[in-house]
Amino acid sequence: MMARTIVFANRKGGSGKTTTAINCAHGLSKNGKVLFIDMDAQAHASSILAPASAKTHRSISDVLGQNVPIDQAIYTSRLPNISIIPSSRELGSYELAAGVDTESAVILADALSAQFNEYDYIIIDPPPTLGVLMVTSLVAAKEVYIPMPLHFLAMEGLAEMMRVIYRLNAEANPDLRLAGIIPTFYNKRVKTSKKIRQEIEMNFGTPILLPPIRNNIKLAESPAYGQTIFVFAAKSIGAADYRELVKHIADPGQVFSL
Ligand SMILES: Nc1ncnc2c1ncn2[C@@H]1O[C@H](COP(=O)(O)OP(=O)(O)OP(=O)(O)O)[C@@H](O)[C@H]1O
Ligand SMILES: [Mg+2]
Repeated sequence: MMARTIVFANRKGGSGKTTTAINCAHGLSKNGKVLFIDMDAQAHASSILAPASAKTHRSISDVLGQNVPIDQAIYTSRLPNISIIPSSRELGSYELAAGVDTESAVILADALSAQFNEYDYIIIDPPPTLGVLMVTSLVAAKEVYIPMPLHFLAMEGLAEMMRVIYRLNAEANPDLRLAGIIPTFYNKRVKTSKKIRQEIEMNFGTPILLPPIRNNIKLAESPAYGQTIFVFAAKSIGAADYRELVKHIADPGQVFSL
């Protein structure tokens, strides 16, 4: 086994990163072992995946602070085949204290390398702030997927993410690459969506767009029940869209056209 390390990142808040990370983790876990890393102090992903019974004592902060070996911060999640390193409130102070330097950014990458043989997928959910936690996530990963609503302003966020990827390619992580753009909150009747799609296709010249995730009320409701879309509403449009996306992530060779 050689884990694929995947991060769902976007500089823009509320773009569907966590929803996509959790549901893709669940989808991919049907065919492989997943390690989920919650890098966001808001701990939304932890609240859905965290173990139901035993309270977790260790968190990603302990790994970043090098307080414990990484395997002591890995817990069995509520879902079969998924393990999790939970987030904690202290992450916020780590972000402030560490500053953005590559020295602290490689800690997670180093720690994870010992886990590559244990998992098929390592999935990282970073916060939207372009600080040390996002950079650490990008240094630890090889594949970046960018979930983004196809709104007019979203292009700026995409350009900024591309600059960060190129910078990290030169400085700390030559293997990092944009693996795909995932249209989220998608509504094909919104005319700007089509223009932005065309703009993205022109800029990248390759089939970089993945199957879209439509706006779906069940996706908005599921977190309140602490469930992934496949548990909460397996027959919903949201579940169908994530099922399709997971197929493409599991087999990146496939070409997709909107
Ligand atoms: N396709 C969708 N349709 C409807 N609601 C959605 C969809 N995707 C996500 N949501 C809801 O939108 C909100 C923001 O989504 P999410 O938390 O995944 O974004 P995020 O990018 O992780 O946010 P943050 O930047 O705060 O980490 C959540 O309440 C989520 O339930
Ligand atoms: Mg999030």
